[in-house]
Amino acid sequence: MSDHERDIDQHSGTETTGHEWDGIKELNTPLPRWWLITWYVTIAWAIVYMILMPAIPALPGLGTNTPGVRGQSDRVNVAASIDQLHTARQEDAARLLGASLQQIETDRDLQQFAMAMGESAFGDNCATCHGAGGRGARGYPVLADDVWLWTGTLDGIEQTIRHGIRHEEDPDTRFSAMPAFGQMGMLDRHQIDDVTEYVVSLTAEEFDAEAAVRGAEVFELQCASCHASDATGMRDVGAPNLTDADWLYGGDRDTIYATVFNARNSHMPAWGDRLDDATIKALAVYVHSLGGGE
Ligand code: HEC
Ligand code: HEC
Repeated sequence: MSDHERDIDQHSGTETTGHEWDGIKELNTPLPRWWLITWYVTIAWAIVYMILMPAIPALPGLGTNTPGVRGQSDRVNVAASIDQLHTARQEDAARLLGASLQQIETDRDLQQFAMAMGESAFGDNCATCHGAGGRGARGYPVLADDVWLWTGTLDGIEQTIRHGIRHEEDPDTRFSAMPAFGQMGMLDRHQIDDVTEYVVSLTAEEFDAEAAVRGAEVFELQCASCHASDATGMRDVGAPNLTDADWLYGGDRDTIYATVFNARNSHMPAWGDRLDDATIKALAVYVHSLGGGE
């Protein structure tokens, strides 16, 4: 550079570097000062950071990463916080095991822990049938309301979860079997039509009154033993109330006819040997809290 004379570009009035290609000259435009300063600062920051913090092979030839003088390590930090969480969880899980369901519900910390654990276990194991948040589906009862087939008490819910409903392999399972009145020839089609009309008459505005009267007799003889004489159901046998508008399978004539003809007797798995005790307790507390726990 030193040997070239200062060469000012005619057109822009800017000094050139003296480099020239085919008549095109390179202008000597220095980088803006603010830009340079920023650049130097980032370099300085990188060096300081590399010294303080662990870095992935920061310098060639070093082999492993530089540990950094502050002894920070995400790996170590994560391991430590997982350990911490584990111990906390184990302590909470142990407290769940030691407490009764009622105690869990009255202890704020325990209850919060049980709710979180229950919610996640519910999502993993129960939501496939009962829907997210227990909102139910056809044939799978809503758990987020105060209508219960068997029971809505804490202990009762735990029992249902542990032993299931009509779960063959569990001797303590909840059990009842509505007969398949049509299939088994216990009632003929006319009688089933009549009793269907009677059940319809309990909630609908329009129905065949004569058929319903005949159906009421059939009901008293064949159905009242489980659904009660007033058709409000019986929890001992998990027989639903037929006088509310809350249907497990459906309240229209065709569906009721099919229910009486074939029966349903649906299954609920037993979770006693699939889930650990703490999880089952947490689930009971969670389900109890969803809607109308009793
Ligand atoms: C394979 C489907 C299925 C799965 C999975 C399932 N359930 Fe059920 N559950 C049912 C059915 C069907 C019923 C109703 C059975 C009947 O007719 O009495 C039921 C009934 C219940 C009841 C009794 C409700 C009442 O009104 O008395 C509770 C409580 C319950 N389930 C909780 C759970 C929990 C908690 C889980 C997860 C650990 C779960 N269920 C997983 C199918 C399922
Ligand atoms: C041995 C007890 C028993 C007898 C007898 C019985 N039921 Fe049921 N019924 C049940 C049970 C338990 C359920 C619900 C569980 C299931 O089937 O999944 C049920 C369900 C029903 C449902 C479905 C309700 C809904 O919400 O969708 C209807 C309708 C019904 N029964 C009508 C009758 C009629 C009508 C008779 C007489 C002809 C009768 N039941 C006799 C036990 C009985």
